[in-house]
Amino acid sequence: MKLVLITGATKGIGRSTAFDFANAGWDLILLARDLKLLETIKSELSTTKSKVYLIKCDLSDSKTIDDCLSEVITEIGCPSVVINNAGFAYNGDLVGMPLINWETIMQVNLTSVFQICSFLVPYMRQKGGLIINVSSHAANNSFPQWGAYCVSKAALASFTRCLREEERKNSIRACTITLGSVNTPLWESEFINSDFNKDAMLSSSQVSKTILYIAEQPRSQIIEDLVLMPSAGAF
Ligand SMILES: NC(=O)c1ccc[n+]([C@@H]2O[C@H](COP(=O)([O-])OP(=O)(O)OC[C@H]3O[C@@H](n4cnc5c(N)ncnc54)[C@H](OP(=O)(O)O)[C@@H]3O)[C@@H](O)[C@H]2O)c1
Repeated sequence: MKLVLITGATKGIGRSTAFDFANAGWDLILLARDLKLLETIKSELSTTKSKVYLIKCDLSDSKTIDDCLSEVITEIGCPSVVINNAGFAYNGDLVGMPLINWETIMQVNLTSVFQICSFLVPYMRQKGGLIINVSSHAANNSFPQWGAYCVSKAALASFTRCLREEERKNSIRACTITLGSVNTPLWESEFINSDFNKDAMLSSSQVSKTILYIAEQPRSQIIEDLVLMPSAGAF
């Protein structure tokens, strides 16, 4: 069954991933907060043969995630591939950062992935499945003002490695894709100070094609960690 759940599907990497998977014959469950944008994408995808299901869900709200996922299981069924792509960055020194900002970035970038995997993996074990978690080169580097983001992505990579070892016996594969900078709406966020050269960044399409490549590997093999960087370097 080619059914993929993509979080953060309204913009940037997630949006491009939705189109590439649809064009490759996958059915899609698209999750994000902005229902209007999700509906626009669904109508743009109507030229493909894919069935498209929309889930409005705010991953910063830990209490609502299980309800959103219950809807996925009862209305649509269990995806064979889950792409935990939703994420955001918040610039600010670690010391002095309001606790709520720290907690929100950890919730969206890390804890929501734990919640999604905790909920879906028991269903996925019946037929086997693949989890692809989207991390950043910030996981392996230390950038001032990006501390909370660096910590969240480093922890996400560690979470993925631990999950992979625990779930091998259950035919669940887990992969981290680690990205250098990508030209997406993330860089327009009010929470980010950036004057980087966007022309030197990866495109969303380069990333989404790579995610599709990971997803379409035979079940007998797994790309465990893939690092995709712009040839000229991170920025
Ligand atoms: N861009 C880069 O340079 C770069 C580099 C390395 C790694 N990454 C990672 O790649 C992933 C995608 O980033 P992007 O650059 O494509 O970002 P983006 O263009 O800002 O898109 C982020 C997506 O996540 C969704 N999202 C954000 N907060 C959410 C929440 N609380 N609940 C549900 N969905 C939420 C947004 O949808 P709604 O607003 O509709 O909810 C949007 O679809 C992130 O994990 C990011 O950390 C990006």
